[in-house]
Amino acid sequence: MQLGFIGVGGMAQAIIKGLIDAQAVAPSEIVVHGAHQAHYQKFAETTGVQLGESNVAVVQNSDFVVLAVTPNVAAEVLKEVRSELNEGPKVLISIVAGLSLQTMEELAGYDLPILRTLPNVNVAIGAGMTAIAANENLTGAKRADAEGLFDAIGSTSELPESDFSTFSALAGSSPAYIYFFIDALSRAGVKHGLNKQDATRIAAAVTEGSAKMVLQSKQIPFDLIDQVSSPGGSTVAGLLAMEEAGFMTAVVKGIDATIKRDQE
Ligand SMILES: NC(=O)c1ccc[n+]([C@@H]2O[C@H](COP(=O)([O-])OP(=O)(O)OC[C@H]3O[C@@H](n4cnc5c(N)ncnc54)[C@H](OP(=O)(O)O)[C@@H]3O)[C@@H](O)[C@H]2O)c1
Repeated sequence: MQLGFIGVGGMAQAIIKGLIDAQAVAPSEIVVHGAHQAHYQKFAETTGVQLGESNVAVVQNSDFVVLAVTPNVAAEVLKEVRSELNEGPKVLISIVAGLSLQTMEELAGYDLPILRTLPNVNVAIGAGMTAIAANENLTGAKRADAEGLFDAIGSTSELPESDFSTFSALAGSSPAYIYFFIDALSRAGVKHGLNKQDATRIAAAVTEGSAKMVLQSKQIPFDLIDQVSSPGGSTVAGLLAMEEAGFMTAVVKGIDATIKRDQE
C-alpha cells in the first residue's frame, strides 16, 4: 500500500507512529508533505517516512491519501490536488473535523471513493477510537483497506455523519476528561497518604482494567457496579457520596458543553 499524508501535524504524526509501530504500513510506503518542511523534518528522519515535494506529488505517489490539514485550508488543498486524486482514482481519507462527505465530493469530485474519519489521539499507541463514514464509491477491497488502517491502530465505529459531533466529545475530547478523573482519583489517594507517583499509576491501571472489563463482559456498567458494591459496604457509601456531589450530572454537563462549543 502506498499511503500519502497531506499535512504532517500532531494528528498525522500520531496516526503514522501508530501504523508503523503496528507494522500495518512500512515507513518506505508512506509519503508526507506539509506547509513547512522544517516542522516535520525531524519526524521524517526519525520514522523513515518519505518526503513528498508537494501536495500534488504526495497524491501522485499514493493509492490512499490522508487529508490531515487544519479545517481552514482543507477546501483549498482539495481543489489543488483534485485532478491527481481522480486519476485512478485514489482513495481519499479525511481526518478533518467538520468536513462532510458531500462537501468533499463537491470540492474533489463525485466519483472519488472517500472515507471520512475522526480518530482520537490514542491512535499513537495503537489504542485509538475512530469514527468512520464512507461515501457510495468506497466499496470492496479499497474500503476494507482504508478501514483496516484505523483497525490496526485501535477500534473503529461506523456512524452516520450527523453523530460525528457527539463522537468528537465522547472520544476526541474525553481523553482530557479521563485524565482529569485519573488525576482526581490519584489526588484522593495522596490526600490519604499515598505518594503521587504510586497513586497515579494505581488510578490509571484501575481505569484501564475497568474499561477492559466493560468491553470484554456482556454486562452494562451498572451491573458491574452492583458486583463491587456489597450491601452496607464502603463502595456503595462512596458511590452515593460521589453522586450527591453531582458526578453523573457533571459528566453529562461537560459533554453538553463540548458539543455546544463544537457546533458553534
Ligand atoms: N488534534 C486532534 O485531536 C484531532 C482529532 C481528530 C481530527 N483532527 C483533525 O485533524 C486535522 C489536523 O489536526 P492537527 O491537530 O494535526 O493540526 P496541526 O498540528 O495544526 O497540523 C496541520 C498540518 O497541516 C499542514 N498544512 C497547513 N496548510 C497546508 C497546506 N496548504 N498544504 C499542506 N499542508 C498544510 C500544517 O503545516 P505547518 O505545520 O507547516 O503549518 C500541519 O502539518 C484537523 O483538520 C483536525 O480537525 C484533529
